[in-house]
Amino acid sequence: MQHVDVIVIGAGAAGLMCALTAGQRGRRVLVLDHANKVGKKILMSGGGRCNFTNMYSTPANFLSRNPHFCKSALSRYTPWDFIALVESHGIPYHEKKLGQLFCDNKSRDIVQLLLDECAAAGVEIRTHTSISAVEYRDRFEVSAAGQGWRAESLVVASGGLSIPKMGASGFGYELARQFGLKVLPTRAGLVPFTLDERKLRDLANLAGISVDVQASAGEGHFRENLLFTHRGLSGPAVLQVSSYWQPGEPVSFDLFPERDLSAWLKQLRRERPRIQLKPLLAEAFSRRMAELWCDRYLGNPILADLSNQAIEGIVSQCQPWRITPSGTEGYRTAEVTLGGVDTDELSSQTMEARRVKGLYFIGEVVDVTGHLGGHNFQWAWASGRAAGEVV
Ligand code: FDA
Repeated sequence: MQHVDVIVIGAGAAGLMCALTAGQRGRRVLVLDHANKVGKKILMSGGGRCNFTNMYSTPANFLSRNPHFCKSALSRYTPWDFIALVESHGIPYHEKKLGQLFCDNKSRDIVQLLLDECAAAGVEIRTHTSISAVEYRDRFEVSAAGQGWRAESLVVASGGLSIPKMGASGFGYELARQFGLKVLPTRAGLVPFTLDERKLRDLANLAGISVDVQASAGEGHFRENLLFTHRGLSGPAVLQVSSYWQPGEPVSFDLFPERDLSAWLKQLRRERPRIQLKPLLAEAFSRRMAELWCDRYLGNPILADLSNQAIEGIVSQCQPWRITPSGTEGYRTAEVTLGGVDTDELSSQTMEARRVKGLYFIGEVVDVTGHLGGHNFQWAWASGRAAGEVV
């Protein structure tokens, strides 16, 4: 058995941040990952440009059974700390929208930053290493690939279940259970909705169309774009509300988030009574969308023919439009996993398990899940930092 101070399982965003922080403190750190290369999700993130943080990230951007848990770590390592690190490596970046910061070039810049910092801090990283057993005998003992390591601290940074093709596994949850820690049920988040065949047929002609909406499901309300696809509904508005959606519930989309549709139609009935609904709606969203919506739901009357009651009927199909998804695309395409290691089991200061000294959980494996837009990486950096400062 070889001895190190800290073993980190998972060379993703949280694991590498933890490792480099501990290494900078002079700790001997070994990072183990079963994948063939480090930071695969970073590489594929943000469409290949990694939305590495969000300037406006606050605890309100996170879902967790305990919404207070994330506050300490997030306040001690802020988006500005990570931005300073990015700038110190000369990585060019830009704000796309809503505080979302992306690399100008490739996500690889962020992976290289983490690898360079790890190398400077003397961190050892081993890929292609499948863990066969973890035990505790006065120290944590990790066996993998016919070898063994002992360490005082074990950090679990193995991520969630989303995108199994990329090496996602339930390893962290199983390890938590092995040590008697509670794991909350998991489900796919930031994921497209699927529709039953009839609804899919109804909306088939809209595939590819994107509309600015106010989307709502449960406690989640987001002003973003809805994208109709061949499989169902997607786009940032859908991904955001999917994290708040419960199976069987409807999702609401206000198709006219900028205006009171009823008042607008009544005003136009006075000002332009001869105009038909289709060309009118085409002024508000695309012609294809207006045509399909009128053909399917609204008809194409001239405004003068609309009674107040008829106007309310039109409004009820648009403001909001309600639809019940048949499900989600699941972990295959989800950006994140909701649920995970119960935060009641962990110290919010250090991420250490309260009942198992020396055992830490960071990043997505913990029951803290961010909104779309760079918040999930911010949690990975902040929780990784919090553990890295004490392991
Ligand atoms: P992460 O999944 O990054 O790393 C876990 C590591 O553990 C992996 O390297 C894995 O191989 C390893 N591992 C797993 N099981 C193991 C085992 N049994 N043994 C050894 N190693 C094991 N977020 C954001 O803020 N901005 C964005 O732009 C995006 N974009 C995005 C796109 C796509 C397609 C996805 C799927 C996700 C995003 N995300 C995102 C979410 C973000 O990628 C995610 O929240 C973080 O990567 C989580 O970081 P972790 O380090 O916790 O896990």
